[in-house]
Parts: sequence; C-alpha cells; structure tokens
Amino acid sequence: MKRSFIVAIDGPAGSGKSTVAKNVAKKMNFLYIDTGAMYRAVTLKALREKINLNDADAVADVARRSKVGLNTNNKGRQRIFLNGEDVTGKIRTPELTRCVAFIARVKRVREHMVKLQRKLGESADSVLEGRDIGTVVFPDADIKFYLDASFKERTMRRFKELKASKPDIRLRDIANDLKVRDRKDITRKYAPLKKAGDAICIDTTRLSIEEVTDKLLGIIKPYFVPPAFLRKQEGGTKYARRADP
Ligand code: DC
Repeated sequence: MKRSFIVAIDGPAGSGKSTVAKNVAKKMNFLYIDTGAMYRAVTLKALREKINLNDADAVADVARRSKVGLNTNNKGRQRIFLNGEDVTGKIRTPELTRCVAFIARVKRVREHMVKLQRKLGESADSVLEGRDIGTVVFPDADIKFYLDASFKERTMRRFKELKASKPDIRLRDIANDLKVRDRKDITRKYAPLKKAGDAICIDTTRLSIEEVTDKLLGIIKPYFVPPAFLRKQEGGTKYARRADP
C-alpha cells in the first residue's frame, strides 16, 4: 500500500511556519494541513456555546460535536469548516487566540484532533504544521522540521501582521500575549511544544520567508523527481516520488 509522504513542521507562534508550510505545500503540490486552525475552530464553537473553558468534560464534548474540515482552493488558499460553516475569517481574533490553550490542553480534544489529522495526512502527500506533529501526530514523518526565531523577532512579526487591521495595537501587549502562549504551549501536560529528536532545526530570525522556504524545499526535493516533462498544474508542479531517495 502506498503511504503518503509526510512533512512535519513544528515551532512556536511567529516562527514563520504557517507561511512556509503553505509555500512548500503549494510548490510540491502537497496537501497543507494547518492543525492550529483545527484547534481554533473547536475554540470558536466552545465560545459560541459559552461553556466553562475550565470544564474538561464540556470542552471534550464540544470537540466531539465539532466536524472540522479543511479545503484548499486552486489558489492554494485554505478554508476551514466547522460543521459545514466556513469559519476561516472568524478564528484569528486576539480574543479567540487567547482561549485556544484551554481547548488544546484537554487530552480527549487532542486525541480527537490527532485522529483527524492522521486521516487527512494519510489521504495524500502532506505538509502538516503545528506543535506536536513530529512528536505525536506523525512520529514517523518522512521529514521533520522545527522552526524557531528569537522572541523579539517573533513579537515584531506578530506586530506587523496585526497592525494593518488594528492600528492601535501595542507592541507590549503582543509581547505579553506571546509570552503567555509560549508558556502554555511548552508546559501543558499533553503533547507540549517540543522539538522531536530527529527534527531539522532552523532559526528563521534573520531569514526571509523565501529563504526558509528554499531551505526546506532543498531538503524535500531530493526525495522526488520532477517528471520528464514538467506537468504544470494549477498551484504547482507535480513531483514524482523517488523509489529510493
Ligand atoms: O498555530 P496557531 O497559532 O494557529 O495555533 C493556535 C493554538 O493551537 C496554539 O496556541 C496551540 C494550539 N495548537 C496545538 O496545541 N497543537 C497543534 N498541533 C497546533 C496548535
């Protein structure tokens, strides 16, 4: 049975992994799986239902009733669905971002999400990005990356990202939020953010998105041969997998 090719990308918020994962998936024509968006979708449902986020049973029940779906259009843009509703534009508010940790720390929620992530990853060659991809979701991933950057640089990236939509946002608040998120991601009991022993570490502090993307592609491409005549497909070139890299 053909097993899909799995690229795992983990790292803290602001390490650049989302953009790079998207770029790599587009270039290789792989499925892009944003696992953070999945936790965010469940968080949205929990907030809408106004449940007590400290009640693990209630949180697990919300996750059980959440059908989370991903769909990438032919421009490489990913849409995220919650029980059939497109919630892509609703899951990135600062308020929701602050609440995801309450959802992501519940073991039954994670088990549910991991099952779904494995099913998606097994359906096609994929790039998965998150916090526990190389350690828990796909410990046998074909290639694992761990992206990181200095705290200052990650704060500045978030600041620039949010400044456009929220001109009055303060750098100090962003730094505080990031510090709290880092601590929660690293110290939670189940599947904390951790570099897998066999992951390739990349410090993105002084690198552009293009440079990081190229670094990753340089490591992934030797596993594949471009077809004799390049079949240009919408969103990228289809590479054929080498029998023996
Ligand atoms: O990558 P992101 O910022 O969209 O992720 C949102 C939150 O979801 C993040 O603070 C931690 C959690 N998360 C997780 O626990 N495990 C993952 N695989 C991905 C995200």
